[in-house]
Amino acid sequence: SLFGIKRALTRALHTDIAFAFDIDGVLLRSKTPIPGASEALKLLNNEKIPYIMLTNGGGVLEKQRTEFLSDALDVEISPLQIVQSHTPFKALVNRHKKVLCCGVDTVREVAETYGFETVVQPVDILALNKVISPFTAASDEYLKRVARKHKSLSKTPFEAIMVFNDPRDWATDIQIISDLLNSDRGYLGTLRKGTSEQPSIPIYFSNDDLLWANHYHLNRFGQGAFRIIINSLYSKLNGGKKLNDVSIGKPTKLSYDFANHVLIDWRQKLIDGTTNSTEQLLPELGISPKASPFEKVYMVGDNPASDIIGAFNYGWESCLVRTGVFSDGDKLPCKPTMIVDNVLQAVIKSLEGHN
Ligand code: G3P
Ligand code: MG
Repeated sequence: SLFGIKRALTRALHTDIAFAFDIDGVLLRSKTPIPGASEALKLLNNEKIPYIMLTNGGGVLEKQRTEFLSDALDVEISPLQIVQSHTPFKALVNRHKKVLCCGVDTVREVAETYGFETVVQPVDILALNKVISPFTAASDEYLKRVARKHKSLSKTPFEAIMVFNDPRDWATDIQIISDLLNSDRGYLGTLRKGTSEQPSIPIYFSNDDLLWANHYHLNRFGQGAFRIIINSLYSKLNGGKKLNDVSIGKPTKLSYDFANHVLIDWRQKLIDGTTNSTEQLLPELGISPKASPFEKVYMVGDNPASDIIGAFNYGWESCLVRTGVFSDGDKLPCKPTMIVDNVLQAVIKSLEGHN
């Protein structure tokens, strides 16, 4: 019983285990809490067991996302307890100044808050010249409302393309991204000579999920599908050469390393009693923590191709739930530590192993 687990666990502050939770398909389905999610987090709070959210979702600031989650799940969650797909982009602000940011309209605010100097969205370009994307469905009224005017879009080059989350106007984003990848050194409206695996400016995708689970009864295409399109068009235009792009998010080691740093930092804040701090640790990209204070870290996820294989490769335990992408009988890329009905079962079963 829950009570029994609590009794057994009150022996010490439980800082030798930790949890990382996926959001879509584990804690929420669209915006609705999944039964057991709130109880699972409350149980860990009671036991002072460190946990973070590790999601391939995004589009809003970490603070906005955790405020929504706190409300929906009736649990206080700090903005320091979340790694969204694009959170590691923060570490790139000194590398690229003028960036094309793709995703929902609100990623403009996210990119600017992260510190990127000149943030341009495809709508800004579309508003200036609608023929750049002949099949866009964007209305003039919409463009008037969301497009931002920039001093000059073509005088200085773009330095990078960042896909913060799943684009909404795929036709426009595919066209403008492709234009810039094949431009002369990042200048909008130019075309380079020759073909190359190396795009004219780097492109970063924040997640590679082919599918994800919303309220519809079948899985829906995610950013991974968008990446396939960008890659395949690039290849067509470059004599079959493969695009040299960068993809982060689960299941990449880069994102698990980043999350591991954040989890270790959060554990320390729990121990020090400084969980109200707003000081966000910014791990360096691609650097693994030197040592882990955790005997075991449990990743609870619904997507075998993202959460489960990512955790497995990283040496974390993996708890696969039946409330999202995965259905019994699906082919698995590796053997999860456990397959359970929902997140509450995952937490209870994991804690039982520590009695
Ligand atoms: O685009 C997929 C994304 O929404 C998945 O989020 O929380 O399941 O990693 P999550
Ligand atoms: Mg998920």
